[in-house]
Amino acid sequence: MVWITGSKGMLGQELLQLFEKQSIPCLSSDIEVDITDIRAVEEFVKDNNISWIINCSAYTAVDMAEDETEKAFSINGSGVENLAVAAEKTGAKIIHFSTDYVFNGTKHSGYIEDDVVNPVNAYGASKLEGERQITSNCSRHFIFRISWLYGAYGNNFVHTMLNLLSSKDEINVVNDQYGSPTYTGELADFIRLIVESDSGKYGIYNFSGEGKTTWYYFARAVYSIGRDNGLIGKDTVINPVDSSSFPTKAKRPAYSYLLKDKLYKTFKYRPAEWKDTLEKYIKKLNKIPV
Ligand SMILES: NC(=O)c1ccc[n+]([C@@H]2O[C@H](COP(=O)([O-])OP(=O)(O)OC[C@H]3O[C@@H](n4cnc5c(N)ncnc54)[C@H](OP(=O)(O)O)[C@@H]3O)[C@@H](O)[C@H]2O)c1
Repeated sequence: MVWITGSKGMLGQELLQLFEKQSIPCLSSDIEVDITDIRAVEEFVKDNNISWIINCSAYTAVDMAEDETEKAFSINGSGVENLAVAAEKTGAKIIHFSTDYVFNGTKHSGYIEDDVVNPVNAYGASKLEGERQITSNCSRHFIFRISWLYGAYGNNFVHTMLNLLSSKDEINVVNDQYGSPTYTGELADFIRLIVESDSGKYGIYNFSGEGKTTWYYFARAVYSIGRDNGLIGKDTVINPVDSSSFPTKAKRPAYSYLLKDKLYKTFKYRPAEWKDTLEKYIKKLNKIPV
């Protein structure tokens, strides 16, 4: 039996929909099974004969984590430790999601899995703690480091841009942070393959759309695809600006493009170009999500 945690979040909802559609036996929970409660976690795993935990629960408020660091570590660190311990005790496997924010962003040639980790913000540090808890407590683990996640369920950059670009005459978008978008739908399809193949090729892997971009070029792509598909009907000027024009509580890595050679070699799987995936996603929308 598969257990999807954080099933009301952006990725959790996508995975749950897919697994239900494919009739893959699974149970789901969100905050009602609090992952920071070891007893609740162990009971759930034991009582439901869980063989796979797919952990989509997390504290994801990057800026708020600077003030709520303890809470972020409790969910992203201790909560993840509980899942890892419960999985190890029963022989279950765990699939967990981490972030490009475990890197400090000074590399400029793409990050591989073995690069030195050195987060520049509290959220990144809490996610790194989660990785460490998984690797030290559960032998059968997959950790996928993903970046710039978007999809049908929840607030994300694509939805924000579609709303802004269809209502404003001019917007400014950061052009000095490099990375690559990850579409929840593509990631969910890949996770299904991981569960079904049961390859035993445990470890840490990077996963994101192919190709590097900046938030500015990402916004421009949303604009042109949104216009071509009738979602945006007005002219909007998009100005490239530096991060310094958008002061945020948490620092972001300037460069966090994830290289995926390990993913290709191990699973013979290559994510599509991020712009093609974005186009497919926007084409499916018949109105702008609010
Ligand atoms: N979003 C991104 O751009 C991004 C980028 C890189 C990596 N990731 C990683 O990808 C994964 C999925 O992200 P996402 O954007 O789908 O997250 P999300 O939308 O914030 O969903 C997380 C879910 O976990 C729930 N949750 C919080 N604390 C919990 C607890 N103690 N017990 C059980 N559930 C709890 C949340 O409930 P509440 O909403 O009520 O708190 C929410 O429903 C996370 O591991 C995240 O760190 C995300």
